[in-house]
Amino acid sequence: MTMTPEKQDDVIIRFAGVHKAFGKRQVLAGLDLDIHRGETFCIMGPSGCGKSVTLRHVIGLLKQDAGTVEVDGHDMATIPRKELVALRSRMGYVFQEAALLNWLTAGANVALPLRETTKFTEAEIEQKVREKLELVRVPDAYEKLPSELSGGMKKRVGLARALITDPEIILYDEPTAGLDPEISSSINHTIRELADRLHVTGLVVTHHIGCIKIVGDRVGLLDGGTLNYISTPAEFLASKEPRLVRFLGDRLD
Ligand SMILES: Nc1ncnc2c1ncn2[C@@H]1O[C@H](COP(=O)(O)OP(=O)(O)OP(=O)(O)O)[C@@H](O)[C@H]1O
Ligand SMILES: [Mg+2]
Repeated sequence: MTMTPEKQDDVIIRFAGVHKAFGKRQVLAGLDLDIHRGETFCIMGPSGCGKSVTLRHVIGLLKQDAGTVEVDGHDMATIPRKELVALRSRMGYVFQEAALLNWLTAGANVALPLRETTKFTEAEIEQKVREKLELVRVPDAYEKLPSELSGGMKKRVGLARALITDPEIILYDEPTAGLDPEISSSINHTIRELADRLHVTGLVVTHHIGCIKIVGDRVGLLDGGTLNYISTPAEFLASKEPRLVRFLGDRLD
């Protein structure tokens, strides 16, 4: 993505000095991050460093102890319930585990957000669900139960569910974890396409170098409670910073 000077000021997600602890465990310790409208930002970092915790702050599932989290100008600590519901309907969340309801078909899982927040007819819902399953390339999953789907297919269905309301912001928690390289690459290209074609803003947590190369406009390393070495994927991967070299050296791809 090329950013004009005006675009650079168009911050849609802002973390400023965010602290979050669970008991004695300080997870976020002064996290600063600005994400611009339409960009895809990747977060890398060791297991347990707070990547999922960071995403949960964006959608208002967790509240920081100190600092501010703003989404499209709303302060997430003080946003009234009604506005939070409206704001959430403009965001999609691809969970780390696909988190599908076992007793519903894939189609019904994808339809859930529409049933909860809109007044479309059943026929309209079916059409939209089929469109999204087509987009993530699992059209045959519609009638199937999650137990009948492979891991890669479940991930795609989770992605379709996150996309069903045509969100402006999508939070992806390890969208390719545990998948083989071919399926991962195809999911990464789908994420990039969404950014390019629909201009969605993306925040992507990933362990995969292949993922940041394909989807990332910028990437940073979350470690010690703050984001560091924020740069383009090419600069990030070429960095000689010892901490980053050590981290990247442990990655498999
Ligand atoms: N609701 C919670 N209650 C207590 N501790 C929590 C909670 N959520 C997260 N934690 C702790 O916060 C830390 C960061 O968790 P988080 O899930 O963000 O890690 P992560 O970076 O996503 O790791 P992974 O790569 O393994 O998914 C962990 O030590 C975790 O145990
Ligand atoms: Mg996580």
